[in-house]
Amino acid sequence: MEKLFTKDTQAIFWNNNKTAIQRMLDYDYTIKRDTPSVAGIVAPTSSNKFEKFFWGADEIMVPVYKNTADAKKAQPQADVLLNFGSFRTAYSVTNEALDIGGFRVIMITAEGIPERLARKMNQKARDLGVTVIGPATVGAIAPGAFKIANIGGTIENIINSKLHRAGSCGLVTRSGGLFNELSNIIAINADGIAEGVAIGGDRFVGSVFIDNLLRMEKNPEVKYMILLGEVGGTEEYKVIEAVKSGKITKPIIAWCIGTIAKYYDSGVQFGHAGASANSDMETAEAKNRAMAEAGIHVPESFNDLPAKIKEVYESLNIAPIPEPEINTVPKSRRPKQFICTISDDRGEEATYAGFPISSVATPDTGKGIGDVISLLWFKKQYPKWATEFIETVIKTVADHGPAVSGAHNAKVTARAGKSVVEALVTGLLTIGPRFGGAIDGAAQYFKYADDNNLSPKEFLGYMKKQGIPIPGIGHRIKSLKNPDLRVTGLMNFASEHFPSTPLLDYARTVEALTTSKKENLILNVDGTIGILMVDMWRALGYSEEEINEFIASGTLNAFFIVGRSIGFIGHVLDEKRLAMPMYRHPMDDILYDVQKAEKI
Ligand code: ACO
Ligand code: LMR
Repeated sequence: MEKLFTKDTQAIFWNNNKTAIQRMLDYDYTIKRDTPSVAGIVAPTSSNKFEKFFWGADEIMVPVYKNTADAKKAQPQADVLLNFGSFRTAYSVTNEALDIGGFRVIMITAEGIPERLARKMNQKARDLGVTVIGPATVGAIAPGAFKIANIGGTIENIINSKLHRAGSCGLVTRSGGLFNELSNIIAINADGIAEGVAIGGDRFVGSVFIDNLLRMEKNPEVKYMILLGEVGGTEEYKVIEAVKSGKITKPIIAWCIGTIAKYYDSGVQFGHAGASANSDMETAEAKNRAMAEAGIHVPESFNDLPAKIKEVYESLNIAPIPEPEINTVPKSRRPKQFICTISDDRGEEATYAGFPISSVATPDTGKGIGDVISLLWFKKQYPKWATEFIETVIKTVADHGPAVSGAHNAKVTARAGKSVVEALVTGLLTIGPRFGGAIDGAAQYFKYADDNNLSPKEFLGYMKKQGIPIPGIGHRIKSLKNPDLRVTGLMNFASEHFPSTPLLDYARTVEALTTSKKENLILNVDGTIGILMVDMWRALGYSEEEINEFIASGTLNAFFIVGRSIGFIGHVLDEKRLAMPMYRHPMDDILYDVQKAEKI
């Protein structure tokens, strides 16, 4: 790995830390990235499917997942995990991500992970070749390409510190606060940073100075390196070894902070868990001396560091870096109240899922209402056999005469003087589990039975236990003797055009059993539609989860609703045309069974 991050790097952000994510997206917008650096968020307790974030003045939706495995499956290109779990969960989140695989870099922000666990986690990552940044860090940045969360601070600070484009310094620090301070010093005294990592303040961190410096040695953008160590630990000695052995040839400027420790009588523990010397070798003084002896550029004091940077940078005669154009994040932005992902009326011509209306509307386009439904309901252009099936369904259920529940209601309402829309809606309100609205239920229960390999007998037993008739089975007038030709038509279409019909095949075995009990317990039109739609979606490559979601949100009944609206409107117009008077039900058709009031 030459570079830690590029302009295409995408991360999965573990924890819904909206402010930090927004900072990343503002950075992306500023540096004109094509894709957002956060591809997905893992938020185990959120019921949201996405979070909205600003992208300049506009907004984008970042998908939210319940766990890392789902996020990685949906966003396989995201090879960085930003683990913002607390110190209680950070270990297990990292461990799980290492098991899932596909993560090149894992950054862990939590401070205070138990040291035993931190060592285990770091070793596992190292064995797998995964770079861990942290724990206890603000992260890393590849200026002009990718920035982790809050590193570099606000957008104003980032631009002031020239962190919006690659410079030529490779910076490694322990502390995040001093990282920001140094970025600024480097911007003033040199040309900025090519890659910067704050490795974290805990005693046991994943990638150490030497790991990062060896990578920067290979990164052609890095012309020299700055190492800001601190009292405690012996990691700086590995860098000295690498310089001595010639593994690192680029100039290094280094300073270990904490030289003040010698003025205290006993060992001093600075802010970081690792910032305390356990032996003379671990003191800042000793490390600074050893680094200077190895030929590393070590200033006299921290105050002299800026001058040292300037001196080394100027000695390298690096060509000036052209300043790229950047976007400016607007000062005031307003979140949008509504989201639309199916159609857009802002251009010259409105579109259905991106297709201009004229490209689907007229006969010469070869598109029908099935195409329009596939675009507006499923945001996809379905193949011909699928759009023709949708059309066949709509045409098949358009009407079933005046006597069925919904048509009857619509007619009565129209005769009460109500408008087309009022009478239509009254008819539609009749659609439910018994009439026309058993399609979702049929898909749900037959799919459940088939998924769980229930025999027809077991399925019947299961439904009996639930206390509900099997949706999609049974008809008031249709039976084995009086078959429903609509059902035959749909089945014929499927056997001719579908690649396969596994769920229908299963449903037919259930029907064989129910009709053996009673001949009207046939697979009815609702059932056939629901079951064949599942077969259609499976053939189109939808996942079981997606199909379950379609069913749960009532998508299947919608086919009946659309189709039967045509018939209801026909009945309402029929009533208007005939100018039929108000309807009153004949009293002799009602069984009155009202108790007599007792005398008071
Ligand atoms: N599953 C299992 N048993 C059933 C089912 C069923 N879906 N439907 C009826 N039965 C049984 C009843 O338990 C009853 O048994 P029993 O005689 O041992 O007591 C017997 O069949 C008759 O029951 P009814 O309710 O009188 O049946 P009816 O023929 O009047 O009902 C109806 C027809 C309402 C469609 C019914 O079969 C049903 O509820 N089906 C499920 C819902 C459904 O699919 N509706 C869509 C119909 S198509 C359309 O509307 C476009
Ligand atoms: C319909 O399509 O409305 C029916 O199958 C219901 C019925 O009673 O005919």
